[in-house]
Amino acid sequence: MSAQDELDGPGQIDPYHHLHDEAYERRFAKGYVGWRDMVFMGGRAAESLDGEWRFAIDPYDEGLRQKWYADAPAPVEAWPVPRDYDTNAEVTAPVPSCWNVLRREWTYLEGAAWYTRFFTHRTGTDERIVLRVGAANYEARVFLNGIFVGAHRGGSTPFFIELTGHLVDGENRLQIQVDNRRRPDRVPMQHTDWFNYGGLYREVSLVRLPPVFIRDFGAALVPGSGGRRLRFDVTLSDPVDGTATIAVDGLIDALALPVSGGFGSIEVEASPALWSPDTPRLYAVTVRCGDDEIGDRVGFREISVDGRRILLNGEPIFLRGICVHEDDVALGKTTSEADLVRRFDHARALNCNFLRLAHYPHHERAAELADELGFLLWEEIPVYWTIAFEAADTFADADNQLREMVRRDRNRASVIIWGIGNENADTDPRHAFMSRLAATAREADGTRLVSAACLINRAHFRIEDRLAAHLDVIGLNEYFGWYEPSMEGLERLLANSDPDRPVIITETGADAVAGLRGPATTFFTEDCQEAVYRAQLTTLARAGYVQGVCPWILYDFRTERRQTVFQRGYNRKGLVAEDKTTRKRAFDVLAACWAERRRAENGGAGGQAPLATTNQGAS
Ligand code: GCU
Repeated sequence: MSAQDELDGPGQIDPYHHLHDEAYERRFAKGYVGWRDMVFMGGRAAESLDGEWRFAIDPYDEGLRQKWYADAPAPVEAWPVPRDYDTNAEVTAPVPSCWNVLRREWTYLEGAAWYTRFFTHRTGTDERIVLRVGAANYEARVFLNGIFVGAHRGGSTPFFIELTGHLVDGENRLQIQVDNRRRPDRVPMQHTDWFNYGGLYREVSLVRLPPVFIRDFGAALVPGSGGRRLRFDVTLSDPVDGTATIAVDGLIDALALPVSGGFGSIEVEASPALWSPDTPRLYAVTVRCGDDEIGDRVGFREISVDGRRILLNGEPIFLRGICVHEDDVALGKTTSEADLVRRFDHARALNCNFLRLAHYPHHERAAELADELGFLLWEEIPVYWTIAFEAADTFADADNQLREMVRRDRNRASVIIWGIGNENADTDPRHAFMSRLAATAREADGTRLVSAACLINRAHFRIEDRLAAHLDVIGLNEYFGWYEPSMEGLERLLANSDPDRPVIITETGADAVAGLRGPATTFFTEDCQEAVYRAQLTTLARAGYVQGVCPWILYDFRTERRQTVFQRGYNRKGLVAEDKTTRKRAFDVLAACWAERRRAENGGAGGQAPLATTNQGAS
């Protein structure tokens, strides 16, 4: 009985069977891939499968119910029974893309859709062929030549499915069903303040690998070594013994790393030039093991905390930040190099040294560019508001997303903080869930800080959260001057609070319609947003334990939660409108403030300069 017969069930002759099987998804309950299946991609060539794919929406999950994937392409004359899906290429979708921006009728599609693509493969080599999907929102089920080969859940991290055993010589049919439904058990759950795009929205490729290959590689400065020790680790695809050879351009010629049972790690004396925003020095690293070779460009730096201070390479650092979503009027959630470069250009113009990539892992190119350009990053997983904290499956999903994010970006010097959640009420189930996530982050990577964007403890009106004991840095979202009109509250909160570790303001700000002027007391005017920024930045400057401020947000972004005449389906808290060009007055307020702070850091007179002064305001 083949795997497929097992899925189909014995003696499948009832053409109406699928009408009565509401448990159809159980047939795909096995086969989820996750962080253990990831393949290290640095220095590897991959065969792109991007381009036009046959595309069909499937809001009723007909494809799974009726097994559209099982029907090999054939002319209608050869169909034994009528079909409801074929692989003709009349309707296509470009990959990568979000289906929501392709046709008006697909804008609000929340359901499933099918992508089909053919590629040619020559069998007869001992190569292993792995499919890499950069990201698919939210759940993806993959079929090759009619066979279910694996699934993945989590909308913002890459996944890898081995195709080797299922390939045929010649033309192969690859089909991916993507389901972006918002559900209470998912991460994020059904309620978010961003747009729920769907589809294969990051690159898709085939990776050709030797029989035993390097699945993971880590390179980092050993914390507490004063910048004089490096640690490398290698994980192979199989539990075999061997030796990996590591070279670090200009630092290490050929370091032998013994591998036993598929894993090896080693520490060596070495004193690299340390990476920092002002000196983003990267080293070319190559690793050979058996028939496999990978490479990476790695910056070595140490990030730590000391009491209420954040230290970069042992020196106190203040995080001059801005938050950003992955959203674009034309591209939706799909990213382009030009879009990322523009994002960092704007951060540079704001005199930032730090960006919070909210609320989910962004495209891996963002961290690579931040490494090159010299920006520090906060990366997070979408444990957002009220997810199903008591559901074991939801925890497994969140835990896997966290491990995938860490495994993908742990060699990025720019990434200094793993964020494990945003604005979650301090309940017992949440506490249990998120303290376990904090432990996961530390286990997966002991070289970075762990944090979460917490809320004010309303009972004590303090910066206080039970979870803080599991965090290195307390993130705090506060909107005094906007959701809480009086700025006096912020003064009281800061005076009331006595945190024992650094605090970063992970969100603050106000909405403004670009070009709308009026009294500073009128919501949605640029003047109101500007006034909120001035008051916030001045007030926060007085709290010594605030070691970073990351206003919400760089660009206006799409969210159907916002429906006033000012918002029209957009969150308008951007310092730049959604056209990613039109700056609002508050942009200059923040830019001037961060410039002043940077001047003070670079030896300006009299220690810490105030965060903002009136004469430095918007031109
Ligand atoms: C919250 C939330 C954001 C949201 C923002 C806002 O703090 O974390 O995702 O967009 O507030 O209300 O604008």
